[in-house]
Amino acid sequence: MDNATPPTHDAVTRRSFLRSGSAAGAGLVLGAPAILSAAAQAAPSDEIRVGFIGCGKQQEVLFNAMKNIPGIHYAAVCDIMKDRVGAAFGRIRAAFGNNPRRYLDVEDMLSKEKDLDAVFVATPDFWHAPHTVMALEAGLHVYCEKMMSNTIEGARSMVKAAEASGKVCQIGHQRRSNPRYRYTLDQLINGNNVCGHITSINGQWNRGVKSSQDIKVKESTLPDVSVLNKYGFKDAHQFLNWRWYRDLSGGPISDLGAHQIDIFNWFLGTAPTSVMASGGKNHFKHREHFDNVMCVFEYDTPAGGARAFYQVLTTTSAGGGYYEAFMGTEGTVQISERDAYTQVYRESDAPSWDPLVQRGFLKRSSAPAPAATDGNVIAAYASAAPEAYELPGALSKPPHQPHIENFFSAVRGEASLNCDARHAFESEAPIYWVNPAAQAGQTIQLTAEHLNV
Ligand SMILES: NC(=O)c1ccc[n+]([C@@H]2O[C@H](COP(=O)([O-])OP(=O)(O)OC[C@H]3O[C@@H](n4cnc5c(N)ncnc54)[C@H](O)[C@@H]3O)[C@@H](O)[C@H]2O)c1
Repeated sequence: MDNATPPTHDAVTRRSFLRSGSAAGAGLVLGAPAILSAAAQAAPSDEIRVGFIGCGKQQEVLFNAMKNIPGIHYAAVCDIMKDRVGAAFGRIRAAFGNNPRRYLDVEDMLSKEKDLDAVFVATPDFWHAPHTVMALEAGLHVYCEKMMSNTIEGARSMVKAAEASGKVCQIGHQRRSNPRYRYTLDQLINGNNVCGHITSINGQWNRGVKSSQDIKVKESTLPDVSVLNKYGFKDAHQFLNWRWYRDLSGGPISDLGAHQIDIFNWFLGTAPTSVMASGGKNHFKHREHFDNVMCVFEYDTPAGGARAFYQVLTTTSAGGGYYEAFMGTEGTVQISERDAYTQVYRESDAPSWDPLVQRGFLKRSSAPAPAATDGNVIAAYASAAPEAYELPGALSKPPHQPHIENFFSAVRGEASLNCDARHAFESEAPIYWVNPAAQAGQTIQLTAEHLNV
């Protein structure tokens, strides 16, 4: 599944390409084929010089996912919290032996670092647009974490800045480069029509109370409150728990839901036409955002339409974790970053999938098939249990690595981005309307005004 080979290249041409810009983001369509491999064996002159903006939890995840990619020099780290700058510095020094320069302010870093090629933005969502726009305008390629912004205006400004700069701007929806997702879309859904007509999608991220608690750190490690105020945080609680505040984040539907609603739109190749939603503060009463949200998107698809249900729970982990299930007249593909939640089912009256198994597209599930009846059947109309199948192969890398490899390949001019700013925006735009629909208790018809840059 992870089988693309890196093209050969001329180092000097690439080096000048890194400096001058790229057309790699142009013209990508939802579902376009991937070039997944990193540019292996880069010569020193061909190194991509990287800086990090925001060095919290996700920076650590990204760094661990990219440290085995060759040809990268980690030149600078920036965070308003000294301890986190120190931790990111330590991670780089431990892995590569060099001392990246340390900054406590992004503008300071961008004004002094004249030799950077690219930055990774992993700050709280309300900082994504300012940081991405600043970096693009400074002539840098940008990998920015999802959700693009806490506001749709912020996300629009990122698309415009990316396109005006001609630089590569990847948004961190890492599933877009995950071989499992690309295989499922390209080979199973589009290539072999395993679902038939997809009429329904069911997605969820269920997380329990313990994993949704407020974050606390030792007070002595926090920046002074005057520093927090300067960077838009009212106090230490807001700084650590920005995800629960309306001015700083879209809350769980954007923090967790963004990953999965993006997959709905990408796999269907279109944006929804409406959204209805309901949300509540059922447990975490003091928070500004809903702790639980349920929503339904309607889609016009060439096959005859579909609707997607999505729920994000931060108060209950039961019910199967996180996945997206594409449910059709002939089969269902349930897919997740986790193997445990990934499964494919054939409707009992659909054409046989034996040819797909023989050609290696699917494996019969090793899990025991459900019994035809458990003795408690009360409805004469119950369908026969669908047959379960598994995908061949598993991702052998950290889940973010293929997306970062794709970014570096695009920076080198060898690949198109799998999730450039415009296509991320097209897919994320409906998500910005879930909270307003839930707050108003109304269905929102999604028009060009809601969805366009
Ligand atoms: N793709 C994924 O799977 C995934 C997973 C987790 C988080 N994320 C995203 O990554 C981003 C960061 O999340 P996190 O969990 O690391 O949050 P975090 O709070 O742990 O880290 C954010 C860091 O940014 C720093 N910061 C805040 N304002 C800053 C500023 N103005 N300048 C410089 N640094 C600043 C903070 O000090 C903190 O260290 C979020 O956008 C989140 O949505 C993505």
